[in-house]
Amino acid sequence: MAEFVHVASAAELPPGGVTVITAGGRSIAVFNVEGAFYAIDDSCTHEYAPLSPGTRVGEIVTCPKHGSRFNVRTGGVLSLPAVVPVNIYPVKVEDGQVYVLPEPQRGRGMPHKA
Ligand code: FES
Repeated sequence: MAEFVHVASAAELPPGGVTVITAGGRSIAVFNVEGAFYAIDDSCTHEYAPLSPGTRVGEIVTCPKHGSRFNVRTGGVLSLPAVVPVNIYPVKVEDGQVYVLPEPQRGRGMPHKA
């Protein structure tokens, strides 16, 4: 059974920020979206490019390789060429510290729908 792993202090990951941890054998990108924290696989479901360097507007990150867009809250894929949602991970904040549970959950959301 996986346990929550420490990511950073909330102050170290300000709104608009992203950091990447390795846990459970996976690279997990943790985003701060206007004070809410979300975690996804740091790997596009198209050809596995890291998503953390992608441009971001609110909850939407754009893959830097071919431009698929994903919702970091739901994992949903919003545009081609990717057609599979990205895994998401539970996140909690306790005493100003951000933690992720490295148990992937299938992202939800129909392909290419917001
Ligand atoms: S690797 Fe992300 S869209 Fe192709």
